[in-house]
Amino acid sequence: MKAPEKGSWTMRPIGHIGSPYRAAEEVPRGPGARHETAGTLDILPAYEAGLKDIEGFSHLFVLWLFHQAATHDLVCIPPTDSRPHGVFSTRSPRRPNPIGLTVVRLIARRGRRLAVKGVDMIDGTPILDIKPYLSSVPESALTRGWVSEAEARSQARKRP
Ligand SMILES: C[S@@+](CC[C@H](N)C(=O)[O-])C[C@H]1O[C@@H](n2cnc3c(N)ncnc32)[C@H](O)[C@@H]1O
Repeated sequence: MKAPEKGSWTMRPIGHIGSPYRAAEEVPRGPGARHETAGTLDILPAYEAGLKDIEGFSHLFVLWLFHQAATHDLVCIPPTDSRPHGVFSTRSPRRPNPIGLTVVRLIARRGRRLAVKGVDMIDGTPILDIKPYLSSVPESALTRGWVSEAEARSQARKRP
């Protein structure tokens, strides 16, 4: 395969998300939002062979396109905080390269359809790639930056 020209790449979907969410506003967001929603990864026939052996993984990384994000902001205020942060320290849909990353739980494979839990994408979202979720970072080594601070402020506000 020819290497892409420097500076731009063309990607094509390998499939699409099946989700109960029809619009971005329907996806739960903000502090305490849980993503246990059931959905599907519907892979195009041309890529079905690439699913071989995927059944053995409990969780998958899904890379996808924020295809309904119109533009980007380099600084934004996320729904979990009242303070501005750089886009690269947030999960905002409005990014220079509108790529989403979601970890889903694999429930079952039926041919080229993967039943999963944990979708936060809207129905019909293009899937760019799928990879098995393998993390070697122990929880004790993780820091959560401004998210921890925002959670602590939110907890303090709730206390009587
Ligand atoms: C905060 S982003 C996080 C997505 C992903 N987990 C990530 O970290 O990249 C999730 C939001 O993206 C929006 N969204 C979902 N699917 C979208 C799509 N196809 N195009 C544009 N926005 C979308 C919804 O409003 C949802 O609440």
